[in-house]
Amino acid sequence: MLDRTSTADRLGDLNARHEEVTRVAEKRARDRQHAKGKLTARERIEELLDADSFVELDEFARHRCTDFGMDRHRPYGDGVVTGHGTVDGRPVCVFSQDFTVFGGSMGETFGRKVLKVMELAMDIGCPVVGINDSGGARIQEGVESLAYYAELGRLNTHASGVIPQLSMITGPCAGGAVYSPAITDFTVMVEGTSHMFVTGPDVVQAVSGERPDVAELGGPATNGSVSGNAHYVAPDEQDAFSWVRALLGYLPANNLEQPPIYEPEEPLARQEELDEIVPDSENQGYDMYDVIERLVDGGEFLEVHDRFAPNMICAFARIEGRTVGVVANQPQHLAGVIDIDASEKAARFVRFCDAFNVPLLTLADVPGYLPSVAQERGGIIRRGAKLIYAYAEATVPKVTVVVRKAYGGGYAVMGSKHLGADVNIAWPTAEIAVMGAPGAAAILHRKRLAETDEPQRAALHARLTAEYAEAFATPYRAAERGHVDMVVQPSRTRHQIARALRVLRTKRRTLPAKKHGNIPL
Ligand code: HXC
Repeated sequence: MLDRTSTADRLGDLNARHEEVTRVAEKRARDRQHAKGKLTARERIEELLDADSFVELDEFARHRCTDFGMDRHRPYGDGVVTGHGTVDGRPVCVFSQDFTVFGGSMGETFGRKVLKVMELAMDIGCPVVGINDSGGARIQEGVESLAYYAELGRLNTHASGVIPQLSMITGPCAGGAVYSPAITDFTVMVEGTSHMFVTGPDVVQAVSGERPDVAELGGPATNGSVSGNAHYVAPDEQDAFSWVRALLGYLPANNLEQPPIYEPEEPLARQEELDEIVPDSENQGYDMYDVIERLVDGGEFLEVHDRFAPNMICAFARIEGRTVGVVANQPQHLAGVIDIDASEKAARFVRFCDAFNVPLLTLADVPGYLPSVAQERGGIIRRGAKLIYAYAEATVPKVTVVVRKAYGGGYAVMGSKHLGADVNIAWPTAEIAVMGAPGAAAILHRKRLAETDEPQRAALHARLTAEYAEAFATPYRAAERGHVDMVVQPSRTRHQIARALRVLRTKRRTLPAKKHGNIPL
């Protein structure tokens, strides 16, 4: 029998409780999770945070549900480990769901713990990382569980644009539980052990008759490359955590702070290589990654959504030690055209950067929006408008480089002066025009071409195309009017970008006061 008056016994009691949580329960959790190729909730926190930095909160919290015999099983922690620690010495709040306790499902106590640590993150202004591995709403706790999902959605929304919110999916994430990660800024999945869907295969079959397997419905491949719900798919959990740590290194702690500043580094490759990167033939592609690598510190960048809409690249990088958000067309995929997915991907990235004081570097080589029946029916008008909205709304420093094509709507949307870019640079290879020369010549001279017999028609079209190209497929019309500020030799681009970003550090621009805008959704 415990002697409540003895301090030594009280200390012993605390130790025993702590042992139960961190050793006995943890041993049980390890056995079960490792058998499935997964880490435990606590091991995941260790992977994420700096060694010995974790401070746990609510270690002894327990549920108070009495239905379904729940009063006989009241484990400490209630299926979620919460607290704060540091990543590279900077504070981060974290919650990590423990699938070995009630399937990591969320009830009242679990929900209160998660909300509490998120409120702490908002109060102190630090990022929050949610590690999800859960069967969703705790069935035994009924409406109480649902209430906390809704509360979580409310808090995620209020925290959006205030602190960076990152979600890691390291097991199941189903039903309404997927909507919290969806509201957060970045979602990471793990190959082989994670899935996300609103309704599982059984429900899909009951309603639609289709019988998808779990991976097809909501595995990392689907969410990473088809639906775009996952911003990064990691081959294993360790890689997922190192990706998140790297991402945090690019971000400020909150919307009132600037991103951390690192030692400036030169790109690894020689700048002169940029002078030869754009091929002579406009039909020949080149790799935009080669351009990015040559412009940013150490040639290093962290791409988000690398498997989704690869025709648009979104990545964090550094120039002179400071974070930039790179938005670039990729001529190697669909010639860098903007389709619905590319627009939505880049729009969300631009809005994130704007919310968190990350300057934007846009690299344009774009033939325009994708002409297609499927795209029109899919809503490319409304969904393509998001990118215009995002660029126009962004008040962070915006620097744009037109590398090659900037045609039509593509010119306007990819960080043009008219949407508020601060410094617009064009390479001598830039072609800023309503459309490509062959198409323009065919439309402008339709009658004349129709009246000309073959084979003279082809020769005439070629001549008219060349005339148009010489007059219009250049950066100089735009330069004459100040729509580009400078035409620059490619090998001098990094130098000019760095100077632009330096001078723009004191940029102050505010938009008219309003409750909020109404981005087309
Ligand atoms: C309570 C749960 C649970 C839940 C799992 N468990 N999900 N307990 N509430 N939602 C428990 C199981 O009873 C089991 O307990 C343990 O967790 C492990 O579950 P298993 O089924 O054995 O694991 P596995 O085979 O890996 O399957 C995992 C699973 C499956 C796919 C997640 O458990 C499942 O389908 N669960 C229900 C998912 C669901 O429909 N949730 C509600 C979604 S709706 P024991 O004691 O046997 O170890 C929702 C609404 C949100 O979330 C509303 C937002 C507005």
